[in-house]
Amino acid sequence: MLAGKTILLIIGGGIAAYKSLDLIRRLQERGARVVPVLTRAGAEFVTPLAVSALAGGKCHTELFNLTDEAEMGHIQLSRAADLVVVAPATADLMAKLAAGLAPDLASTLLLATDKRVLIAPAMNVRMWQHPATQRNLVQLRADGVAVVGPNEGDMACGEFGPGRMAEPLEIAAAISAAMGDGPLVGRHVLVTSGPTLEPIDPVRYIANRSSGAQGAALAAALADLGARVTFVTGPASVPPPAGVEVMRVETAREMLAAVEAALPADAAVFAAAVADWRVANASDRKFKKDATGTAPKLEFAENPDILARISQMKKGRPALVVGFAAETDNVLEHASAKRVRKGCDWIVANDVSPATGIMGGVENMVTVIDAEGSESWPRMGKPEVARRLAARVAAALAR
Ligand code: C5P
Repeated sequence: MLAGKTILLIIGGGIAAYKSLDLIRRLQERGARVVPVLTRAGAEFVTPLAVSALAGGKCHTELFNLTDEAEMGHIQLSRAADLVVVAPATADLMAKLAAGLAPDLASTLLLATDKRVLIAPAMNVRMWQHPATQRNLVQLRADGVAVVGPNEGDMACGEFGPGRMAEPLEIAAAISAAMGDGPLVGRHVLVTSGPTLEPIDPVRYIANRSSGAQGAALAAALADLGARVTFVTGPASVPPPAGVEVMRVETAREMLAAVEAALPADAAVFAAAVADWRVANASDRKFKKDATGTAPKLEFAENPDILARISQMKKGRPALVVGFAAETDNVLEHASAKRVRKGCDWIVANDVSPATGIMGGVENMVTVIDAEGSESWPRMGKPEVARRLAARVAAALAR
């Protein structure tokens, strides 16, 4: 996908620099040539030798290198690339770029380039949240710099929060998107994901075991192919992927409203595990145990079927609507009937009986059902299912 492209990769000083070694590989797999630049601080975390061995060429480190500068090396380096990527982008590198300072090779290249710049910030959570860094981020975005991540999670410093560098695959996807590459460029795809929460009272709710892993992987894979992705998610246990527009919701009705607000879309994939019922007599005060020991009686009302609604839209229906069917028995039969009943184009059916370990697990085994018939895929990781499905979406929209 990045065949024939040259990416200038600036590796800043942070523990996440080790992931940039993997990033070099991922970019090469996609056909790109990577020209690496290592800052002095970066060289404290990974060695120039490791970087140049992986990149298959010189690892640039010094601004005033006599042989390079005889040919105005830094100007050439910054212009010969198709895209400049900074990963990890430290708070210091971000500050230099935002202020236009150029005390070393990396910052000089960033100032001298006429190409798009994409940064993958990585730093301690407090450094990320510091007003100075946030101010620089706003400035960089205003200057047209693309940003991927950071993600939230455990950090090397022992703290938790946003600051982890995006994963190499996420950065590679953001690079593809920044270069306007991929079969879904110019397409808008909507993905729903995660469970919904239906309140019982202000502190209690009904939920389900959906982790949101398949939906998140799908959104990432679609963005990887260049789509603009709107990701409508219930409270999932996996974080939303980088590079997609996230709309967070709790209830089924909120999810429907978000989906409707996000339309029009070329394709919509409904991977959320939406609660079929909500509590009709939800209380706005906490239910209390009473002296008689009587349990509260919950009444239920049916939730809107988002997939069916969108599938049956008379005007402005996405060209491709994909539903999921999590079944525990007679999977194919039930899922085929569901496709017809709801009016969607494809149903991705999977067996979620506890013995399969699929619900909440890392693998999935699906059968894709469309008007022509069905296609069963072997058991594989959820990201792999996502990539195959995204490719199928791209092929269908190209027809
Ligand atoms: O009917 P069932 O819940 O099994 O259908 C599953 C499919 O329908 C999934 O794609 C799910 O996202 C979607 N769905 C929905 N709104 C509902 C119920 C299910 O969009 N209220």
